[in-house]
Amino acid sequence: MKSLLHRSAVAALILLLCPLAPSLAPLSERTPQAASTRTALSDPGTEKKIEELLRKMTLEEKVGQLVQYSAGQPTGPGTGRTDYEDMIRKGEVGALFNITTARQVNAFQHLAVEQSRLHIPLLFGLDVIHGFKTEFPVPLALASSWNLELVEQSARVAAREASASGIRWTFSPMVDIARDARWGRMAEGSGEDPYLGMAMARAYVRGYQGTRLDAPDSIAACAKHFVGYGAAEGGRDYNSTEISEHTLRQFYLPPFHAAIDEGAATIMSAFNSLNGVPASANPFTLTQILRREWGFQGIVDGDYTALAELIAHGIANDGVTAARKAFLAGVDMDMVSSLYHDHLVQLVHSGDVPESAIDEAVHRVLRVKFALGLFEHPFTEETKEAGAMLHPDSIVLARTAAEQSFVLLKNAKVATSPLLPLSATTKTLALIGPLADDRANMLGSWAAQGRPANVSTLRAALAARVGAQNVHYAKGSEILGGSDTQLAEAVKAAEQSDIAILALGENAPEMTGEAAARAFLGLPGRQEELLEKVVATGKPVVLLIFSGRPLTLPWAFEHVPAVMAAWFPGMQAGPALVRTLFGEANPSGRLVVSWPRSVGQEPLYYNALNTGRPAGKIDLARPPRNGLEKYVSRYIDEQNAPQFPFGFGLSYTAFRYGNLHIDKMQMSAKTLNEGLQVGEYKQNAVLSAGADITNTGTSAGVETVQCYLRLQGTSVAQPVRVLSKFQRITLAPGETRKVTFLLGPDAFAIWNDQQKFAVEPAKVTLWIAPDSSQGVQATLEITK
Ligand code: BGC
Repeated sequence: MKSLLHRSAVAALILLLCPLAPSLAPLSERTPQAASTRTALSDPGTEKKIEELLRKMTLEEKVGQLVQYSAGQPTGPGTGRTDYEDMIRKGEVGALFNITTARQVNAFQHLAVEQSRLHIPLLFGLDVIHGFKTEFPVPLALASSWNLELVEQSARVAAREASASGIRWTFSPMVDIARDARWGRMAEGSGEDPYLGMAMARAYVRGYQGTRLDAPDSIAACAKHFVGYGAAEGGRDYNSTEISEHTLRQFYLPPFHAAIDEGAATIMSAFNSLNGVPASANPFTLTQILRREWGFQGIVDGDYTALAELIAHGIANDGVTAARKAFLAGVDMDMVSSLYHDHLVQLVHSGDVPESAIDEAVHRVLRVKFALGLFEHPFTEETKEAGAMLHPDSIVLARTAAEQSFVLLKNAKVATSPLLPLSATTKTLALIGPLADDRANMLGSWAAQGRPANVSTLRAALAARVGAQNVHYAKGSEILGGSDTQLAEAVKAAEQSDIAILALGENAPEMTGEAAARAFLGLPGRQEELLEKVVATGKPVVLLIFSGRPLTLPWAFEHVPAVMAAWFPGMQAGPALVRTLFGEANPSGRLVVSWPRSVGQEPLYYNALNTGRPAGKIDLARPPRNGLEKYVSRYIDEQNAPQFPFGFGLSYTAFRYGNLHIDKMQMSAKTLNEGLQVGEYKQNAVLSAGADITNTGTSAGVETVQCYLRLQGTSVAQPVRVLSKFQRITLAPGETRKVTFLLGPDAFAIWNDQQKFAVEPAKVTLWIAPDSSQGVQATLEITK
C-alpha cells in the first residue's frame, strides 16, 4: 500500500496525467436514508452570471472574495486586523464570521452591497454547532440518539434561528471520526463509526440546507475538518496524524463524502498534518480526492489561521510561501490569516499562481453566494429576528433530543427492582454535585447564542416535580476543587434522603471541545471523593455523568447502582433528566464511542483489526499461565475490552434477539462488483438479513437494532466488526417485530490492495445485534 508521504508531488503528477481519475463506488453511499433532497449548488444560468461577474472583477477584487475575517469575538489567536469596513468598501473581503445579530450583519452587508464597486454581498458565518438560540445537546449526545430525523430537525431549527440573525453559513457538521476520548473535540462530532458518521453528516446537511439553499431560512453547511483531525496523536488537539491511505479511505473520508453527496456547500480544511503534509496545504486530499474524484463544487475554507500555521508546521518559511502552498493545494478561502489578502495578487504577478486558478476559486465562492440567494436578498429582516427564536416547538424538540441522547449505562437492582426509573413514591431526594444546579455548562462547549438564562436546571426541574421541600440540595464540591465543608454537607443531604442523585462531570467550555485534550479521564477535582463519600452513606445512588466524552470511572461502575451518561444536554437539561429519572421518557441512547476503562486503552474503537495474536478472555487476577496466554495482544494490567462497547445502552425494558434469517448464503464477488456503480446513490439490495426482536419487559421502549459485518480472507485485513446498517424501532411490552436489513454491494466493498473500492471473495460473518459486542450471527460466503 502506498504511503501518503511525498503525496503532494505524486498528486500534482496525477492531476496532470489523469484529470478525470474515476472513483469506484465509495463507502459514503452506504446510507440508511431514502433518496435525499439534495440541493444543487448551481445551474447553467447561474454559472453564466458568475462568468460575467468574474469578467468585470479586478485581480484585487477577485482575491477579496477569498478573504475571511472574524469581526466579532475571536476564538483564538488572530491577525488583530480591525479595518474591515474600509476593506469591504474596496471589495477586499468575501466573508465575515462571529457576528451574531441581524443589525450588525446588515450594517456590514450595506457596506458591501451599496458601497463596493461590484456590489457583491458578503457571506456571514458562525459556529452554529448544536443550536443557535435554542440549544440542543452537544453533537456527541445528539448522535447517541441514533435518530437521524431528530438530528435533521435540530439542524433545521438551528438554521431557522441563525438565518433570522443574518447568518447563512455554519461551520458544522464536524464529521471527524473520533477514536480517542482524550481529544476534547470528540464532543463536537458523531463518534467513532464511519457508517453512523455518514448518516449523521447527511442528516445535518439536510437540516441546515433544507430543500433549497436559497430559501431565506436555509444556511450553508460546512463539513469539517478535512481531514484526519480526529486522529491527533495522543488525543492532543492540533497534533500530527499518520493515517494510511486505506484507513483514510475506509474510515476518515466517508463522512465527508456523504456530506458532499448530500449537497454540503462548503468544507473546512483541518489544522493537523496528515502523513507530514498539513491538511490545509494537502493537494492529495484537497484536490485529488475532493475535487477530482468527488467533483466537489463548493468552497474549501481554511480553518482559523491554518494557513499562517503552515510556517509553524515547517512547510513554509514565510507568509508568501504559505499562501502559495495552501492555495495551490486547494484552499479557496483564508480564514483570519490574511495571507491571501497580503500575497495572492503578488503571487499572480510573479507567475507563481495562475490567474485562472484564482478565477476558479472565486467562481466557487460566488457559486455558493448565488446558491444562497444572497445576490437577490442580501439583507435580513431585523423585525423578524426576535420572533424566530426559541419557538415553543423548538424547545420541545430540544427536550426530546436530550431525552433521546441519554445513555443508561447501569441500572442494578436495589432490593427487588432496578433503581431506575424512580418510584413515584420516592419521598425525599438528595441532589448533589457541581452540575446539579448549573446552567452554563448544560450548553456545552460551543453554544452560539444559547444563553444560560434559558436553561432549565436539574435542580429546578426536580423541585418542580417533587416539591422543593423534598429536595435536599448540596453542591458537594466544585468541578475543580471544593472544601471539606461542602463534602460534609453533601453527606448530610444524602443521609436525610431516600435516594441520592449525583450530578458530576466536566466543565464544558474548559474541559471539552477545542483545545481541551485531557491526559486523565476521571472525574475532575474532588468529585470522585464526593461520590465515594455519598455512596458510603448506604443510600441508593443515581450517578448522572455530564461530559463531552466517556470518563474512566471503574469504581463508580462497580459500586453505584444506576449510572447514566447525560453528556451536555442543552437548554432543556432539567426537564429531560427528570422525565427520564421518573420513567416518563425511557432511555434509548446508544454509545457512539467505545467507553474506556482506563486512559491507557486509548485510542479505543470497536472496528479494530484482530491482530495476529488476538487475546481471548483476560483474567487480570493472575499472571498468564503459559505462552499462549502471555504472547498475545493485551495489557498485563487492564482488559482489552471497553467498559461499555460501541452501540451499547440500556432501557427500562429489555429486548430479545432471535430467529436470524438470511436470504442468501453465497454471493459472487464478480456480480457484486458489477452492481457496485460509480456515483450511484442508492445501491440495489443484494442481500436481506432479518431477525425477530421482542420487547420482553413491561414498558414500551425504543431499540436500536444494529447490523454488523466481518470480512475475512480479503487482500487488506478488515475490522472484527463493521456497522453496516441500523434501525430504531419502538416496541410495546411483549411485542415482537421482524427487522430486515437490505444490504447493497457497497456494504461488502473495501479499499483494497489495488487502491480501489471493490468486493473481494471473503468469508462473511453477519450479526444483528443490540451492540457491537454481541448479537445473533450467521456466516456466509462471497465466492469469486
Ligand atoms: C475551529 C473550527 C471553527 C473555527 C471558527 C477553529 O478554531 O477549529 O472548528 O469552525 O475556529 O470559529
